[in-house]
Amino acid sequence: MSYCHRLSLATVLIAGLLTTQSWALKLVQGPILGDLTKTTVSIGWKTDQACEGTVEVVHSTGNPVGEFKAIAKDSSTRYEAFLRGLKSGNRYGYSIKIRNQSGVFESARAWFTTDVPDSQAFRFVSMADSRGAVNGVNVETLSKIVSHVKKAEPALLFFQGDLINGHQNADTVRIQFDQWKQVMEPILQSIPVYMGVGSHEMAVKPIDGVDGDSIFREEFNQVPWNGPENLKGLVYSFDFGNSHFVMLDSYTRIRNFEVTEDQLEWLEKDLAATPKLHRFVGLHDVPYPNHAHLKSSINIYPEMMDKFLTLCDKYGVEIIFCGHEHNYERKLINNTLNPKVKGWIYQVKNGTCGAPIYKGNTDTRNQMAFSESYNYILVEVDGPQVTVTAYDDNGKQLDHFSYKK
Ligand SMILES: [Fe+2]
Repeated sequence: MSYCHRLSLATVLIAGLLTTQSWALKLVQGPILGDLTKTTVSIGWKTDQACEGTVEVVHSTGNPVGEFKAIAKDSSTRYEAFLRGLKSGNRYGYSIKIRNQSGVFESARAWFTTDVPDSQAFRFVSMADSRGAVNGVNVETLSKIVSHVKKAEPALLFFQGDLINGHQNADTVRIQFDQWKQVMEPILQSIPVYMGVGSHEMAVKPIDGVDGDSIFREEFNQVPWNGPENLKGLVYSFDFGNSHFVMLDSYTRIRNFEVTEDQLEWLEKDLAATPKLHRFVGLHDVPYPNHAHLKSSINIYPEMMDKFLTLCDKYGVEIIFCGHEHNYERKLINNTLNPKVKGWIYQVKNGTCGAPIYKGNTDTRNQMAFSESYNYILVEVDGPQVTVTAYDDNGKQLDHFSYKK
């Protein structure tokens, strides 16, 4: 074979290899866990091309549970498998297998635990406001916090909005969500993350029916679809162990800084119906801001806020988790702060796991803890006992309190 022939053969082989590589089937996002109940869970992912997929499940004892077939969601590269027939409070391992004519890919095994019986203790984490400079996300700080959270092995994560900087352009917002999910991947594959809408996610300029709400629903669709009619996927409630959780939206299309009337009506019915001992509510806006958002949070509509707090008080909500102001603060909402509140509700503002820290502390009424630092909250629920600890991004304790219900 002449030198020229050998060279051209080599070129063809290299080109062939490159072509094969560029066409090899890839997992571009996930797996992401959601819709977790005592017996079911959904596993979602994104690929770079259309394919078939299954999820193989094993019990922590090593016994095989089964293989569950994935279905394409709203596009030919977005998939979801719905796992059924699981047992409450059990630990399962799973890996996803995808295949088509250009290849086969199998993910590393990830683990999750199903919703526990009322009698079993569990932990959850609350975070909010992770926006920053890398594709709209503070990658450095959020990554640090993710590694602490992963080690704490919580059962679920409650996230009260402003994940990303947001943008007028829908595609830019999708890229920012992809970036956020990439940083959050170690958590997303093992625990359900319950997202709430923040001010920044709603910056999208609506075009042809695509707006901040529709993108949010598309990106975070593994949540219960049980909210008020026009807010499904954004406002919802769910149970875990002996606790009931509600996520609200203070950035609806109607008006910003408001828990809208339809949400309040739905909230009353939702809270009245739950038999669970503990009740936790999340929303992006802080009811009692301390400084930067004194004139730009739900407190600017006092009548609505009174209704909201009165409902929380009447139905025994213990903690309102929020964000919006980028610091950590705990306040006690009682009748000295609001005469309409007869009992007590903690306002826990874990307002930045990446968003620029806000300095300043003007309204210190009923303030029980305050820190100008990045933060996340770990809540331990054990029967009637609830223990809350706030940490900074280095794992240093910022606040600690507990109560019995
Ligand atoms: Fe905000």
